[in-house]
Amino acid sequence: MRRKIVAGNWKMNLSWDEAKSLLLGINNFVNRHKPESKVIVCPPFPFLDRANDIFIGHASVGAQNISEFENGAYTGEISGSILNSIGVHYTIVGHSERRKYFHETNEQIGEKVAMAIKKGIKTIVCCGETGEERESGNQNNVVKEQLDVALKNISPEDMVRQIIAYEPVWAIGTGQTASPSQAQEMHAFIRNEVLEPLFGADVANEVRILYGGSVNSGNADDLFSQPDIDGGLIGGASLKLDDFTSIIHAAE
Ligand code: G3H
Repeated sequence: MRRKIVAGNWKMNLSWDEAKSLLLGINNFVNRHKPESKVIVCPPFPFLDRANDIFIGHASVGAQNISEFENGAYTGEISGSILNSIGVHYTIVGHSERRKYFHETNEQIGEKVAMAIKKGIKTIVCCGETGEERESGNQNNVVKEQLDVALKNISPEDMVRQIIAYEPVWAIGTGQTASPSQAQEMHAFIRNEVLEPLFGADVANEVRILYGGSVNSGNADDLFSQPDIDGGLIGGASLKLDDFTSIIHAAE
């Protein structure tokens, strides 16, 4: 039985005052309700340390990105050692916005995943096709290529602790969610046709695969009840306490 995960990706949003109030609300909620699912919140870098101080108990803090380099003269980058030294043990890697605006490649994402693991950070590895790629029927090839390259240097023992997030680009921030059956079809493909050949059936069955792309309190239930959908990576709806907590409820 895979424990579900609800992860919030705040992207580049909120002032510290707004962030603090949301973090306190989430902390209260999870400590009161003790949800069965794992809750991870990924705020902007400057808030990570203070978020960790606020989260006592059930929720974890994650970064939105990590450097593929170990340490040194890389102005503006944040290494796995730095994250680990402030007690941050999760990071998103290869979000489609990093691919689109910062030209991250599958190879670079693979280096980030390997470095994160080396530094004791668990990764939420993002994949997903554009609208054009889906219209041309190419979505499976695109996602397989993204994951084959990003996960190629990972051992089965390490892979069990990593998380995949399928986020169709056409569904991100658009209000146009993949239907539960479209999402389920891709999640099953990732588990059976991508992870199993790479890591074996046992590992493929254990890895959590999250869905991301316009998840909200109205559609989370249907999405999360699909057999291969193990929770969500939530953007816009993770910025509002009521929406985010309803989504956590939906993962019960
Ligand atoms: O990382 C989160 C995804 O990009 C989804 O964003 O929920 O605002 O569509 P969204």
